[in-house]
Amino acid sequence: MASLSPPRRWLFGPGPTQIEQRVYDAMAKPVVGYLDPFFFEVNEDVRAGLREVFGTRNAFTLAISGTGSAGMETAVSNFLDPGAKLLVFSAGYFADRIAEMGRRHGAQVVVRRKPWGEIFTEAEAREAVQAERPHVAAFVHAETSTGALQDPLAITRPAHGVGALVIADCVTSLGATPVDVDASGIDIAYSCSQKGLSCPPGLSPFTVSAAALEALNQRKLDNPVWYLDLKLLADYYDGGKYHHTAPISSFYALREGLAAILEEGTQKRFDRHTRAHAAFVKRIEAMGLHMHVAAGQRIPNLNTVRVPEGVDDALVRKALLHEHGIEVGAGFGPLAGKIFRIGLMGPLANEDGLDVFFSAFERSMARAGAAV
Ligand SMILES: Cc1ncc(COP(=O)(O)O)c(C=O)c1O
Repeated sequence: MASLSPPRRWLFGPGPTQIEQRVYDAMAKPVVGYLDPFFFEVNEDVRAGLREVFGTRNAFTLAISGTGSAGMETAVSNFLDPGAKLLVFSAGYFADRIAEMGRRHGAQVVVRRKPWGEIFTEAEAREAVQAERPHVAAFVHAETSTGALQDPLAITRPAHGVGALVIADCVTSLGATPVDVDASGIDIAYSCSQKGLSCPPGLSPFTVSAAALEALNQRKLDNPVWYLDLKLLADYYDGGKYHHTAPISSFYALREGLAAILEEGTQKRFDRHTRAHAAFVKRIEAMGLHMHVAAGQRIPNLNTVRVPEGVDDALVRKALLHEHGIEVGAGFGPLAGKIFRIGLMGPLANEDGLDVFFSAFERSMARAGAAV
């Protein structure tokens, strides 16, 4: 077998996103054991960095071994007993995944739906929580399947009014868009390493509020998923007791990615993503194209652009990949063939990144017959 030589891509999709060389370099450093004091130092740095990007003082903040879906299942499996009511606010694919996990864990799942690309108002959420009185409410902060950004307070305020804990999926927002866990009143948030944090996939940042921690500590039943049991993970990360072999190199990468974010400054990084988004929308509209989500409700770091009538989006994506080395995401579900999902994250969220993208996108769209 020849030595591996992956193609160099421009990752303008929804994730994984572009990774800085310093993060790759960190991954190549010597592996230590899962109980080595050095690993625990690295882990404490990771936890501190995650508190910064999450906008929280929650002591119970950690990285779950696994991708964003592992974070999702950690949230669902630790905070819902069989028969407990889970209310999911769904306007996209990933909210439905939360509902499906709830179903598999025996929760009584109720789903409120809106069309893909919309968000919930506080009045809509209030009506739903008062009618359903759930134990736990869940929403997706940045719905990657649509490009819509849900205001967390519109969900947390009414949910707390009926005593529900709130789970927020921050898989696409964390590191690029403020999550503000404490100010938003989110009880349980999870994310991933491969999007706004500009690291490889493999870890799922996770944070638990004091109220959620109390609920966890009072829970009588064991989490049926041993691997994602937060009590056992606390024994490992706080108590130094073996649980599983932490993916050491992935922790190195996440530590380095967080170090880069903290060096830039979280607010500066968020502002950079907002500026790149505004410039992106301007250039898209100058091409005569339209954004899928209404202004003011868009995820800054994941742009969804409508595919014009008569244009085959697959042809455009193929040209971008094979002729320019650029990856963008396709729409799926009800948005299949109707949108492009274009990530502007980390090292690509700037004027240079926009120039790389638009010079290739304009050519590929024109070739596919778009009047741009
Ligand atoms: C909003 C959202 N939630 C959950 C997931 C699942 O994450 P993963 O694919 O890392 O398991 C994704 C993946 O793109 C996502 O965008």
